Amino acid sequence: MRKIMIAGTAAALVLSGSLLAMAEVKSLRGEIPLDAPSKAPARARVMSKEGGFSRAWKTQPPLIPHKIDKERISLDENSCLRCHAPDTYKAENAPMISKTHFTDPQHPSDKNLMRSRWFCYQCHVPQVEAKPLVENVFGKK
Ligand code: HEC
Ligand code: HEC
Repeated sequence: MRKIMIAGTAAALVLSGSLLAMAEVKSLRGEIPLDAPSKAPARARVMSKEGGFSRAWKTQPPLIPHKIDKERISLDENSCLRCHAPDTYKAENAPMISKTHFTDPQHPSDKNLMRSRWFCYQCHVPQVEAKPLVENVFGKK
């Protein structure tokens, strides 16, 4: 017990020392004491965009213009296929998965979707209405 207390005091000393040294550093958490609950960040809302988002460059994986929190992708299940597969997209009025995602692009089907394209979120992501933390200068220079 005593050892723990000594270690605790030492840690506190080191901590207060480094806190002094970092007095100028501002935490993203703000000026809230460590033992006080911080304010929950505003919840980001996923954007829905009819017609989809325009691409920033030609070969960009298109951004997802709808919510995906209810979708599931596991080893043997992919609920995106419910609307985007070659045999479902028409009925759902959704764009078909790009032909480039199939091993036989001329005859795309559920059976020849490339496994390297199975986890859609690897490349396709939804967007939220969020204030950028830093200015984005992509394409501006
Ligand atoms: C309930 C049906 C449905 C499901 C499930 C669904 N989508 Fe969609 N998705 C759509 C529709 C409809 C559009 C077209 C929206 C529009 O353009 O207005 C779309 C558009 C997209 C686009 C934009 C394509 C482009 O060229 O702009 C991407 C990417 C996409 N979805 C990916 C996904 C992924 C990844 C999943 C699974 C996590 C998924 N979708 C699940 C219906 C669905
Ligand atoms: C390795 C990255 C990658 C993965 C994984 C991936 N995509 Fe794509 N996707 C792309 C790129 C890049 C494009 C645009 C160029 C092209 O068509 O190949 C695209 C295009 C699309 C398009 C637009 C097709 C069109 O004609 O405009 C849809 C829809 C789409 N993908 C759906 C999906 C779905 C659903 C999944 C999961 C089953 C998925 N993608 C997995 C990279 C990926």
